[in-house]
Amino acid sequence: MTSTSSNHAVRVENLSVSYGNVVAVKNASFSVNHGTLTGIMGPNGAGKSTLIKAMMGLVRFQRGNIRLLSAHPSQLDGTCIAYVPQQNHINLHFPVTVGDVVMMGRYSYMQRLRPPRARDREAVKASLKKVRMHDKKDRQIGQLSGGERQRVFLARALAQQAELFFLDEPFSDIDFASEKVIISLLRELAGGGKTIFVIHHNLDKVFEYFESLLLINGEMIAFGKTQCVFTPENLARTYRDSHMVLAHDDDAAVIPK
Ligand SMILES: Nc1ncnc2c1ncn2[C@@H]1O[C@H](COP(=O)(O)OP(=O)(O)OP(=O)(O)O)[C@@H](O)[C@H]1O
Ligand SMILES: [Mg+2]
Repeated sequence: MTSTSSNHAVRVENLSVSYGNVVAVKNASFSVNHGTLTGIMGPNGAGKSTLIKAMMGLVRFQRGNIRLLSAHPSQLDGTCIAYVPQQNHINLHFPVTVGDVVMMGRYSYMQRLRPPRARDREAVKASLKKVRMHDKKDRQIGQLSGGERQRVFLARALAQQAELFFLDEPFSDIDFASEKVIISLLRELAGGGKTIFVIHHNLDKVFEYFESLLLINGEMIAFGKTQCVFTPENLARTYRDSHMVLAHDDDAAVIPK
């Protein structure tokens, strides 16, 4: 949510990110307070993944300024930021179990080349229980359904006990039950003061899920409270070159202002 306070969890000013000649994100500026659950929406190729990667320090940016927890992303230690990547960017042939993946969330707490301690194992177990995947902890990650995999990667983020969470399309390819598990956990985390960004595609659930919303299509179209940002005009600007505009024109017409 916007605020005049300088004690933001995240502050981004005039951010532009290019890959060679391709400008992926142009002039994004926004800030959110601690404990805010923010949706990021826009068509394919709009720069959503690039925006969160730049915020986490995973891609270089050419212009602008980013402060996370009042620090430059490179000054934060590995425990502060939890990332759930877009599913099609994960190598499913890598031979690791569900438990191994969630233990990766504990790496920054573990001493180099030392086995996990009891508290690491406890954190892994508690996180898997929260996403209802503990019974499959020994299963290979490539042998899960899409929804189960999303829940495991969320469990890894939970085990990390981070302050900032970045989730890239956590609801793609999952059923309603998994989606409900994930959104209620995210709400609980935000209620406990964690700051969360979720890249999202489904226009139906936006009011229900997010208190704050960022719309992007290369350049940032709008940011603020969901009820102010999620308007037919902003959606038309965001999805102007996209088939999604046609698919959701009816939805847009009935969106309350
Ligand atoms: N590593 C890269 N090198 C070159 N161009 C890239 C790279 N990653 C992304 N791009 C380009 O940057 C633009 C934004 O990509 P990005 O992945 O951020 O979009 P997105 O909004 O996350 O899309 P989607 O909804 O399909 O996941 C696209 O034009 C894409 O082709
Ligand atoms: Mg993406």
